[in-house]
Amino acid sequence: MRVEPAAALVGDVAVPGVKGICQRGVMLGAVAEGESELRGFGHAADTDAAIGVVRELGAEVDEPAAEVVRVRGVGLRGLREPSAPLDCGNAGTVMRLVAGLLAGQEGRRFELVGDESLSRRPQERIAVPLRELGARVETTDGHAPVRIEGAELRPIRYELPVASAQVKSCVLLAGLYARGGATRVVEAVPTRDHTERMLASLGVRVRRRGSEIAVEPVESLPPLSLDIPGDFSSAAPFVAAATLLSGSDLRIHGVNLNPTRTGFLDVLERMGARVAVFNRRSAGGEPVADLEVRSAELVATDVDAEEVPRLVDELPLFALVAACARGSSTVRGARELRVKETNRIETVTNALRALGIRIRAGEDGFGVRGIPSRPKGGGRVEAAGDHRIAMLGAIAGLASRAGVEVRGAEAVAISFPGFFELLDSVTQR
Ligand code: S3P
Repeated sequence: MRVEPAAALVGDVAVPGVKGICQRGVMLGAVAEGESELRGFGHAADTDAAIGVVRELGAEVDEPAAEVVRVRGVGLRGLREPSAPLDCGNAGTVMRLVAGLLAGQEGRRFELVGDESLSRRPQERIAVPLRELGARVETTDGHAPVRIEGAELRPIRYELPVASAQVKSCVLLAGLYARGGATRVVEAVPTRDHTERMLASLGVRVRRRGSEIAVEPVESLPPLSLDIPGDFSSAAPFVAAATLLSGSDLRIHGVNLNPTRTGFLDVLERMGARVAVFNRRSAGGEPVADLEVRSAELVATDVDAEEVPRLVDELPLFALVAACARGSSTVRGARELRVKETNRIETVTNALRALGIRIRAGEDGFGVRGIPSRPKGGGRVEAAGDHRIAMLGAIAGLASRAGVEVRGAEAVAISFPGFFELLDSVTQR
């Protein structure tokens, strides 16, 4: 896909529903009683993977209208043994969260598999706490396939060795089954809390005290009825592009502004961006607002380990905006980037270098030398199967002087199949 330079982004857009809420809604709907309804569902490869997995586990899923998904739950302990391995595709969230539910299915066995990328990602991080809870879990040299035999679980207190909402959520979901007290997870740095919010909205007792989150076991879950707001991570490329292209004036409607996810906005604000937040409201226990983004001239900034979880999926875009800012920017404490859909320290560095940007890769981050003008472009960005890198390449193309060729652009379908069409609808050449 060739992306030519653009003058501005102008108009109004709305992005698909929060991927992680869609996935969590499908998985919790599968173990709830009765019929759950998820409105504003953002179909994409990663959310459809959640649907495929719960169907294999015995839940019925149908789609009565566009962006509406209904899940008929089988109850907390009713997931059936599938006849084939459960295919999580590219979706780390699906594999790691469903594992928490499977751990509580006493005496039943399950096998989780994924695509090539997911099969390279670390899974001992969930196996360790699930074993402690009492389940039998085997990984394949630390990776998928992951085999789980459900058991009667007991509550644990678990200190997360890495800042990961997926691992936290896995333990909290298994904690629903662990009779005899609360299961506790301690996180040194706060990570996204969609799971906690969703459980609380279902009446589960889940409480945070300082850095510890405690969840009480339950015997059953009521069905969900959710209005899912737009995904901040899908809005972020539009925010970045409108900031970089002079003359832009873009409104993005109905965006989830969960404070554990909006670090990119804070960082951009520090850099001098002009993003107005208005019409604040709430939907499904999550904060929502509309954004208005105007172009701005940016100055460099640094992102440290404390801040990283709040913009972990936006760090590729941060590298690009930093390349267009005055001064040098750095990211530190982001070793986790190495175990995302790709090794994003490598894929981001390669992508930006191909555009003539000066970027230095480090063990746990990167440093970017900004020049407050358009990057040269003219090169080729390899998405390497990574949706966030494909979107980075597209925005880089719009903001460049000579355009960019994005190889493997179809990877956007992992989280945002309509990305290029929507971008095109507000692009002025
Ligand atoms: C996610 C958590 C993050 C994030 C991923 C989605 C979630 O992963 O990068 O895109 O839905 O909980 P980690 O938990 O591995 O940091």
